[in-house]
Amino acid sequence: MASPLIKTFVWSSKIRLFHWLNVSCVFLLMILGLMLFFDDPLDLSKQGKILLKTIHTLVGYVFALNLLFRIVLGFIGKGFERWSQTLPFTAAFRQELAQLKQNKNTVFKGHNPIGKLMVAALFTLLSVQMVSGLMIASTDIYYPPLGNYFVQTIALDKNNLEVIKPYSKANINPQAYDEMRTLRKPFKEAHEISFYLLLILISLHIIAVIISERKEKAALVSAMIHGYKYLPKNDNNE
Ligand code: HEM
Repeated sequence: MASPLIKTFVWSSKIRLFHWLNVSCVFLLMILGLMLFFDDPLDLSKQGKILLKTIHTLVGYVFALNLLFRIVLGFIGKGFERWSQTLPFTAAFRQELAQLKQNKNTVFKGHNPIGKLMVAALFTLLSVQMVSGLMIASTDIYYPPLGNYFVQTIALDKNNLEVIKPYSKANINPQAYDEMRTLRKPFKEAHEISFYLLLILISLHIIAVIISERKEKAALVSAMIHGYKYLPKNDNNE
């Protein structure tokens, strides 16, 4: 007879808040990003593009603050908030991997070892999107954190900075502008490549959750809402 499932608290309110805010921001950023990507077929005007980039950047700030909050929580938080419980390549991870190899049906209270690898890859790509996004917003629509700095570096007349606007050549030193765009290029490319990789990983993440849910019946999705999983009693779940 299968052992009874025990209601076990796993995800703190901070983790759950981060997770759903992150899902919402990434979803919105992907939709807005795709509209920017297809600006020609969408026949967007210059003003339309600037507006779209501005909205994308404002949502990007919420996304970046939420991600920074989660990164800090990994160092100062408790239990499954901590990076030592979340990321692979720790002693605990190697032990969990050995357990999984011995018994494919082992159920883990937090992430299973494959889940930890996925979390590491997702956080890496989200961080790449954050850093590259902040850099391209600074060098394109001159938004924080570095927008003011770049406006200063490309201005011909440092006393007339107000006229420097996206898509305008007014008061711009062409050589300094080209240098800024050269600096920006690898960040723009990283933003695009990381977007494609995120699309693949997010799809795999959702498929993995559906498969685990069907196999383990631990209520994984609702656990991210109320914090509790339903787990069999074993050493991993004490
Ligand atoms: C998961 C997070 C993010 C995703 C999936 C995402 C996705 C995208 C995509 C697909 C594009 C269009 C790329 C292209 O036209 O080649 C784009 C452009 C852009 N993104 Fe993001 N982005 C994210 C985060 C951010 C953040 C955090 C910021 C800044 C705060 C940001 C700022 C920008 C800007 C300014 C552009 C316009 C670039 C241009 O066309 O010159 N993004 N993003």
